[in-house]
Amino acid sequence: MITITTKQEMQQLAKQHKEKGRSIGFVPTMGYLHEGHLTLLKEAKKNNDITIMSIFVNPLQFGPGEDFDAYPRNPERDTKLAEEAGVDILFMPSPENMYNSEKSIRMTVLNRTDVLCGVNRPGHFDGVVTVLSKLFHITLPDRAYFGLKDAQQFAVVSGLVEDFDFPLEIVPVETVRESTGLAVSSRNVYLTPEERKQAPALYKSLQKAEELLKDGVQDIAAITGKVKDYIRTHMQADIDYVELLSFPELEQISVPNGKVIVAAAVKFSKARLIDNIIIDV
Ligand code: PAJ
Repeated sequence: MITITTKQEMQQLAKQHKEKGRSIGFVPTMGYLHEGHLTLLKEAKKNNDITIMSIFVNPLQFGPGEDFDAYPRNPERDTKLAEEAGVDILFMPSPENMYNSEKSIRMTVLNRTDVLCGVNRPGHFDGVVTVLSKLFHITLPDRAYFGLKDAQQFAVVSGLVEDFDFPLEIVPVETVRESTGLAVSSRNVYLTPEERKQAPALYKSLQKAEELLKDGVQDIAAITGKVKDYIRTHMQADIDYVELLSFPELEQISVPNGKVIVAAAVKFSKARLIDNIIIDV
C-alpha cells in the first residue's frame, strides 16, 4: 500500500494508472475505519484493478455546533487496517491541501434534501457533493462505493453524478450490522454503555415497519407511528425523524408502492444514530 497526502500527487498517480488501462475503484471515507468501510473496500477489490481509499474529515459538511473537532480520528490504526484490508492507495490529505484556494464557486443540492437528515443539517449535503466532486477529479475512479446506511447520501450522490456527467458508476453496498442489529458507525464510540444496550432497538423499530408493510398495511402515518412508539418504549433518546418515502427519489408518497425507504434518526446524549431499511413493496 502506498500512502499519499497531497491531491497533486494523488491525481498524478491516478492518471498514470488510467494511462496503463487499469480500472480504479474508489472508497471515500472520513476514517476511524470499521467493518462498514472495509466491506465497501472488499466490493471495490472485486471489480477493479486498483483500489483507492480516501480518509478526510471534510470540514465543509459539518454545521456549526456539529462534531467536526470531536469527530473520532486515528490515522495510525486506520493505516494499519487499510493495509491489512488490501487498499492499494491510501489518500489522506490535509484540509489545507484540499481547500488551498479561496472559493469562487458554491455547490447547492436542490433535490432530496428537504427530507430526512437534510432538514436538520442545512448545508451538509452541499459540503458532501463539493468534497466528492473534488475527490472524483483527484482519484479518477471508474466506480465509487457508497453504503446504504447513508441512503440519502447515496441518493444525493447519484444525482450529482447524473447532473454533472461524472464518468463513473456509483455502487451501493448493503448496511453492515453488529450481531445485535446495530448499524456499524464511527460515531458509535459516542454511546454510553447504557445507550449501547438500547441502540439496537433502532433497527428493531424499522423491522416493525417492514413487518407491517409485508402484511399489506398501507397507512403511512400508522406505520411511522408504530416505529416511533417502539423507539419511545425502548430508547431514552429524542426522535429526530421517522419517515417513509419513495427510494431513491425520496419523495412523499400516499401509498407504499415499489421501492420505499423507512428511515429514522435519534439523538442520545452525545451520539446521533441513523438507520434505514429499503423494501420492495
Ligand atoms: P463515512 O461516514 O466515513 O462513511 C464512508 C462510507 O462508508 C459511506 O459510503 C458510508 O455510507 C459507508 N458506511 C458507513 N457505515 C456503514 C455501514 N454500517 N455499512 C455499510 N456502509 C457504511 O459518508 C462519509 O464518510 C462522508 O460523507 C464522505 C462520503 C466520505 C464524504 O465526506
